[in-house]
Amino acid sequence: MKPPRHFYAPLAAGAPPPLRELPVRLERMIHFVPPHLEKVRAKVPETARQVDVILANLEDAIPADAKDAARAGAILMGAMDLGGASLWSRINALNSPWHLDDVTELVAGLGEKLDVMMIPKVEGPWDIHYMDQLLALLEAKHGLTKPILLHAILETAQGVANVEAIAGASPRIQGVSLGPADLAASRKMKTTRVGGGHPSYRVLADAGEGARASVQQDLWHYTLAKMVDACAMHGIKPFYGPFGDIADAEACEQQFRNAYLMGCVGAWSLHPSQIAIARRVFSPDVEEVRFALRILEAMPDGAGVAMLDGKMQDDATWKQAKVIVDLARRVAAKEPEMAGVYGL
Ligand code: GLV
Ligand code: MG
Repeated sequence: MKPPRHFYAPLAAGAPPPLRELPVRLERMIHFVPPHLEKVRAKVPETARQVDVILANLEDAIPADAKDAARAGAILMGAMDLGGASLWSRINALNSPWHLDDVTELVAGLGEKLDVMMIPKVEGPWDIHYMDQLLALLEAKHGLTKPILLHAILETAQGVANVEAIAGASPRIQGVSLGPADLAASRKMKTTRVGGGHPSYRVLADAGEGARASVQQDLWHYTLAKMVDACAMHGIKPFYGPFGDIADAEACEQQFRNAYLMGCVGAWSLHPSQIAIARRVFSPDVEEVRFALRILEAMPDGAGVAMLDGKMQDDATWKQAKVIVDLARRVAAKEPEMAGVYGL
């Protein structure tokens, strides 16, 4: 293990020092764009105004014969006015024929405009160490003054087993997303879906009189919980990934909401219709914010005990309330109309 004093040392002469704190940013939706499609790319400045993060996707869903065009399109996105949205790119996997050109050309072409590089199929901390070193060399070569952050997709069984080590592998790590489609394949799950539940994954009530009640369970609960704890332990951000059934807005919203309640800060939007869903889910609920504000008011120094509407409040509920109010303040700072709605 690297000694603590070395953890924040630049990995190449002339590379920017690693960040000690992550930038404070809203990242409620990471909106995926296929950058090789000129028509979609032309709408990027408009789309970017509706999202927190716009992501140039170079990996899965981009045909092999369009990989070069997608990379070139991603670099063109760097010259656009993104209206304050963060610019991310999902590059191809470390063992793919496109990986090296993705990394070298994106750093050369986008430089500091690229906030975060999303790395698919991360298996363990060694993948992050490799990316960390390569990016430091490229940052030094191109004279970047701020580091490009890394986001890992958790989408292999090995990656899930190593998620704590991945989350703590480098100060460059910004967050982790659940990748339920590849993870299902890696685990040999018997599904053909991108995220969401399955009607046959359920618990049946005991046999007795009459029909037996049964309830569908969440296939992703274990992985999501493990990922959230690993991220919280290392002070980085957890995200739900993609929800592939674009037509089922209700199920998408429920899956996102479960992830939000468990601690995730955002999810991917694969289609414009999912942007509003993610904004609604990952911005705190108005009633929760108002109640959280009452908790903070009732216990101004965060200590002691108070009763509100018959519910006991102590320093643990004060801390929960602070999470919600802090998030509401960040939302209100970006969307001023929300300040009044939240009562801030
Ligand atoms: C995302 O990349 C996934 O595989 O779900
Ligand atoms: Mg995947």
